[in-house]
Amino acid sequence: MTPADHPAFMNMMKATTGVVIRKADEYAAVARYLNRNPGMSHLAFDGDQLVGCAMSGHDGKRGYLQHVMTAPQAQSQGIARTLVDRCLEALSREGIDKVHLDTLHDNHQAHRFWERLGWSNRNAEIVRFSRLLVDDPNA
Ligand SMILES: CC(C)(COP(=O)(O)OP(=O)(O)OC[C@H]1O[C@@H](n2cnc3c(N)ncnc32)[C@H](O)[C@@H]1OP(=O)(O)O)[C@@H](O)C(=O)NCCC(=O)NCCS
Repeated sequence: MTPADHPAFMNMMKATTGVVIRKADEYAAVARYLNRNPGMSHLAFDGDQLVGCAMSGHDGKRGYLQHVMTAPQAQSQGIARTLVDRCLEALSREGIDKVHLDTLHDNHQAHRFWERLGWSNRNAEIVRFSRLLVDDPNA
């Protein structure tokens, strides 16, 4: 994935239930993320149509997955699994040993997907706190 993919990425985000579009998904922030984490975010295309996305990066200690999605007509073909594997391989090559991701509390189909891929639900142990640094609830 490169910054040039941003328009197609945004169209896919808008068409996908279970993901939330934030200000951090605008071009400048996505380009900064991709430049800070080169080779760690991957897309799948059917011809020239974007059908899959998985973004990842790390902070030097832990890896993070974001925006894993497959277009409805392309689901159940192993696209998300393949893209996630590519992200994990890239993180592992950088020496990252553990990767986190967030899902919406009520996105039960995503929870089943992650469990199928062998991820652990940490809901009983971890509570995430967040704080805005700008006066924008959609930052
Ligand atoms: C979740 C999502 C990314 C799965 O994409 P996909 O390309 O259809 O998934 P894959 O085909 O790679 O499936 C990989 C495995 O997970 C399983 N799986 C996929 N979706 C599943 C679900 N809802 N429940 C249970 N298992 C599921 C598949 O059966 C497959 O298992 P197998 O490889 O052992 O046969 C897709 O449904 C999606 O885009 N959902 C909307 C966006 C979203 O919620 N993203 C997650 C945000 S955290």
